[in-house]
Amino acid sequence: MTQTENKPATQETPFVPIEKIVALCKRRGFVYPNSEIYGGVSGIYDFGPLGVELRNNIRRFWWWSMVQLHDNVVGIEGAIITHPRVWEASGHVENFVDRLVDCKNCKRRFRIDHLPPENVVSNRCPVCGGELTEPRTFNLLMETYLGVVEGERMKTYLRGEACQNIYLDYDNVLKSSRMQIPFGICQIGKAFRNEVTPGNFLFRQREFEQWDLQFFVHPSEMQQWFDYWKEKRFEWYKGIINHKDRLHFREHGPDELAHYAKQAFDIEYQTILGWQEWEGIHWRQDWDLSRHSEYSGQDLSYTDPITKEKYIPWIVETSGGVDRTFLNLLIDAYEEEPDPSGKEARTVLRLHPTLAPVKVAVLPLQKNKEELLTTARSIHNKLKRLMVSQYDDVANIGRRYRRQDEIGTPYCVTVDFQTLDDGTVTVRERDHTSVWYSEDRCDY
Ligand code: GAP
Repeated sequence: MTQTENKPATQETPFVPIEKIVALCKRRGFVYPNSEIYGGVSGIYDFGPLGVELRNNIRRFWWWSMVQLHDNVVGIEGAIITHPRVWEASGHVENFVDRLVDCKNCKRRFRIDHLPPENVVSNRCPVCGGELTEPRTFNLLMETYLGVVEGERMKTYLRGEACQNIYLDYDNVLKSSRMQIPFGICQIGKAFRNEVTPGNFLFRQREFEQWDLQFFVHPSEMQQWFDYWKEKRFEWYKGIINHKDRLHFREHGPDELAHYAKQAFDIEYQTILGWQEWEGIHWRQDWDLSRHSEYSGQDLSYTDPITKEKYIPWIVETSGGVDRTFLNLLIDAYEEEPDPSGKEARTVLRLHPTLAPVKVAVLPLQKNKEELLTTARSIHNKLKRLMVSQYDDVANIGRRYRRQDEIGTPYCVTVDFQTLDDGTVTVRERDHTSVWYSEDRCDY
């Protein structure tokens, strides 16, 4: 396929307002507010037909990169509900808290760690200047109960972070999969937090999905593996975005570090909301396996098969989120391009083709010629066995191209009158454009 004059996909564009992403997601079936007909639930969302495709592609790509491509990494899928002692051992029952203040005047609520320092000192609301209440502490774990007999039900929690399953299954994986240290376990799964200030659409939710790698190492190799995974994860994100300059590392300051951590870095992405965490790379040391050994009474130490040295492995954690990836990718991909002929601007999602929810659309040029429709349907029927393909014969061809641009479809195949003569079709690319697109003829 040849290209006409290329329009680079990474051209400098202003930050897109979140409201535009929210509107597109609802309009085109990516994301809906949960329980909308009952007025919705703050911080909880459902994913529509295109949202599910995008999420599946994001998950699949992460799994392929992290598990399939690494001989020393395997995957698990743990349960959302675990024994309640897990959350005592992990420190969440005691420490997983937000400290909040309310403005007595405008009634807004703030996390103290999100307030500008001057407002903490003056005890004044950053929005209206009103007086703030005394801080109150809230635990973020979501409680649930197992059992049916009142009085005998066991209180436990929906998992507050997905990674705990990995520590719980670590010994089983070790014994059942012939892994030896250094090795890693990956998981993708839902997590639940009673976030007191959910917001910014998918950014901070109460039900969300995390992906974790927990990589188990000998303490002497911790730094080397920490550096390895830190770079790997950064390159992974860089590979799926257009605006590479909107990605950076932020190292946690000494006051932010967990008590067991020597180092922690956030991979941050810049949007209209400023720089925000996308994924955390954490030096967890031997904290998790030591605590679970202590609380469960099971010895989770490792004996080196060659040296016979016995030790608790140290852990490098890379922990990110499907939802933040979903949101950041839409923000990164969204563009509005002026129409050269002065008509309505074109909205285009420049999503990486591997992640785009629909890979190809097959469009008969006109609806009034049955042969065009039959040929187009037959091409679509072949393509859909290999990838997500859409057939569309409703509205004029320009409108149909725009519909596909707006959901990020990288290619459109147009069946026209020449197709009937010589068996070729027009292939239109989403990104390479002089007047919006290039096209070339291909055999099918
Ligand atoms: N196991 C470590 C851990 O859970 P975290 O920084 O709390 O660390 C890891 O979470 C990732 O999970 C974040 O980088 C973010 O991508 C995602 N995440 C955390 N809280 C979230 C929320 N309320 N809504 C959406 N995603 C969230």
